[in-house]
Amino acid sequence: MSDDLRQKIESAIAEPKNLGEMQNADAVGTAGSADCGDMLRMWIKFREEGGKKVIDRATFQTFGCETAIAVASLATQLIQGKTPEEAMAMDGEALSAPLGPLPPMRIHCAQLVEGALRQALGGAPTTKAAEVVKNLTPPPAPPNAPTLMDSFSPSKDGAQKTVRVILKPKTE
Ligand code: FES
Repeated sequence: MSDDLRQKIESAIAEPKNLGEMQNADAVGTAGSADCGDMLRMWIKFREEGGKKVIDRATFQTFGCETAIAVASLATQLIQGKTPEEAMAMDGEALSAPLGPLPPMRIHCAQLVEGALRQALGGAPTTKAAEVVKNLTPPPAPPNAPTLMDSFSPSKDGAQKTVRVILKPKTE
């Protein structure tokens, strides 16, 4: 990873924007990476502007690496004011563009963000993102979805789900 990219990621995660669950969200999407096992959830609230439905606000939670946190932080800012169609036209590369090109081993981190965004907006993941999130993406969460942590609490039948929980960003 280049020094420039590392600095940009460190700066983005020093004060991540739009971190946390959103009460009364209109849409929620969750994606998991088959590459690393990390997960990311995104909440979206819409508003009407000039007769169009646009994204008013988006927030996220993740058990993911620093790159995923940085991309999600940037993505939630980039999609603000966009229509769902405009936001869905953005792939992982577009969502991480302010960071510059990601090294090959970090591209899936941006595609994790894309996967959660596209699931929230009801679109199918792009082919590349679909490869990243296959097998691990849970069914769509309802708008009043619990936190990402709640998703891994014991199920009603008492069966304990196992998940790797990262309480602070992983160093890369
Ligand atoms: Fe898992 Fe980046 S999202 S390593």
